Amino acid sequence: METAITEMFGIEHPIIQGGMHYVGFAEMAAAVSNAGGLGTITGLTLKTPEALANEIARCKDMTDKPFAVNVTFLPTVNAPDYPALIKVIIDGGVTVVETAGRNPSQVMPYLKDAGIKVIHKCTSVRHALKAQEIGCDAVSVDGFECGGHPGEDDVPNMILLPRAADELDIPFVASGGQADGRSLVASLAMGADGINLGTRFLATQEAPVHQKVKDAIVAASELDTRLVMRPLRNTERVLTNAAVERVLETERVKGADLQFEDIIDEVAGVYPRVMQEGEMDAGAWSCGMVAGLINDIPTCQDLVDRIMNEAEQIIHDRLVGISRGATT
Ligand SMILES: Cc1cc2nc3c(=O)[nH]c(=O)nc-3n(C[C@H](O)[C@H](O)[C@H](O)COP(=O)(O)O)c2cc1C
Repeated sequence: METAITEMFGIEHPIIQGGMHYVGFAEMAAAVSNAGGLGTITGLTLKTPEALANEIARCKDMTDKPFAVNVTFLPTVNAPDYPALIKVIIDGGVTVVETAGRNPSQVMPYLKDAGIKVIHKCTSVRHALKAQEIGCDAVSVDGFECGGHPGEDDVPNMILLPRAADELDIPFVASGGQADGRSLVASLAMGADGINLGTRFLATQEAPVHQKVKDAIVAASELDTRLVMRPLRNTERVLTNAAVERVLETERVKGADLQFEDIIDEVAGVYPRVMQEGEMDAGAWSCGMVAGLINDIPTCQDLVDRIMNEAEQIIHDRLVGISRGATT
């Protein structure tokens, strides 16, 4: 399949692995890129610019295919050293950057001067248009069903993707709820030029996380995610567990008076404990509704091949089979 996205990023298949905190290490990114998709290192998981430079070098040792680095702009008082992170991304010869959180206008001139393609992840048409206006090459449109931060508008992909297609001139990928060949064909039909997957790539052999995390995703249904931090307007879709239910109870009791400090133990600093130690109730960790469509833990190569084969089959057997051609 050739789309504007495969052409722009120099990849074989229109499949991207989105940045994932404490998941997007070099092993994950290289496995996806070697399978013909675009793997992504999660910049902020590496604590320092030196550590990120090292991770980029490790990824280059594991693949000669293009890969991306995710740079998430956090609403935080102790902001990471973004200029230094951008410098090691440029010096490391990375060809694609996935930005998320706030729009990346502050770093665009440096990335563009270095010839790096920028794909900005956003959850609304207005933010996608802003990304287009400031010079992003593509956007990743993240629907309400997505794992992680779906924003505050609650528009699912069945509406958001065609809306994006109606408004945007730059190419976009569909993000959130993407699992298989059906997701890919549906997203292409709604105007996307590819798909971005988070939760599905978390449940793969190569994902460098504890086996219990992968098993929890396989065991979960589409009913098992919850939205936390809604009262703080920093909504996150997470897999439910005892800590998440405590957060929701605190949110209910505190109402409009809720402060971040009231839930900090359950939402801050939990990723290493969950992803690396397998402490499944340590706190809230991102997971999409797509967990309901995930029933196995394949290699990245098997997953990507399966998505592509299934998509081709749907197009050629099912869609062409039921089509009678356009009526004049
Ligand atoms: C465990 C996990 C951690 C994530 N961490 C980040 C992150 O640090 N930065 C970011 O931009 N997106 C992050 N995301 C969002 C993904 O990149 C992607 O947009 C999302 O998972 C797509 O929805 P899906 O899970 O339904 O595929 C994370 C998602 C998951 C599941």
